[in-house]
Amino acid sequence: MSVGTGSLLTVEGVVAGYGAAEQILKGTSLRVEAGEIVSIIGPNGAGKSTLLKTIAGLVAAREGAIMLNGADVTAEGALGRARHGIGFVPQERNVFGAMTVAENLDISGFQEPARVRERSEALYARYPMLAAKRRALARTLSGGQRQILAMAMGLMNAPTLLLLDEPTAGLSPKAAEELFEAIMVLNRGGLPILMVEQHALEALEISTRGYVLVAGSNSREGAGPALAADPEIRRLFLGG
Ligand SMILES: Nc1ncnc2c1ncn2[C@@H]1O[C@H](COP(=O)(O)OP(=O)(O)O)[C@@H](O)[C@H]1O
Ligand SMILES: [Mg+2]
Repeated sequence: MSVGTGSLLTVEGVVAGYGAAEQILKGTSLRVEAGEIVSIIGPNGAGKSTLLKTIAGLVAAREGAIMLNGADVTAEGALGRARHGIGFVPQERNVFGAMTVAENLDISGFQEPARVRERSEALYARYPMLAAKRRALARTLSGGQRQILAMAMGLMNAPTLLLLDEPTAGLSPKAAEELFEAIMVLNRGGLPILMVEQHALEALEISTRGYVLVAGSNSREGAGPALAADPEIRRLFLGG
């Protein structure tokens, strides 16, 4: 397999896992092009979060390669990946509950401390709810508000690719819809997004392309809406 050229992100045959246990990712590949929203869907335990953590540099790739904007970042840690433009919003514990909204944003702008003020003000303008809650402790936010804060934290370093791990998990249908809308607005502004979603069909509908990950291996791949309309995918994710 050749490592893709010209793609924003190329993941090529990545093998990764935790400690001495069996590998979780067993040769996973994907790519994200400029301007895309790409969704990764798949059953619980398939390795979706592990894949995002491996792209973010929090889990080491034991085989394979990760290329960002033409640079091989496979050997870089999480800070190096952030410097190369990766913003990562984890699935769990993605805000500091005992800190205020403002503190959460401020500490997230660690790449360029001199620009924290300007970037947080831009985010308050974009998400007025955060401005209204800036002195509130993050643990007092609703689920939907917390996910907006987590996403805003991921934007504080002005990433060139945003990774979102189950941004709508646990949200009401209305809050989930609002979050998908916020994700689409970000993408229309030019930010490429790679997300993992449990709301598989809804995510595919708004995605340029999607990947189905099963047991650490690529299963299906295609245009988002086409995958969402695929009978096999619908059976898998709607149980119908
Ligand atoms: N920190 C960890 N240490 C050991 N095993 C883990 C860890 N995180 C996840 N796993 C295991 O890796 C597998 C894939 O998990 P994960 O990537 O979270 O799947 P998904 O996000 O698709 O539900 C699961 O079997 C899970 O138990
Ligand atoms: Mg997960």
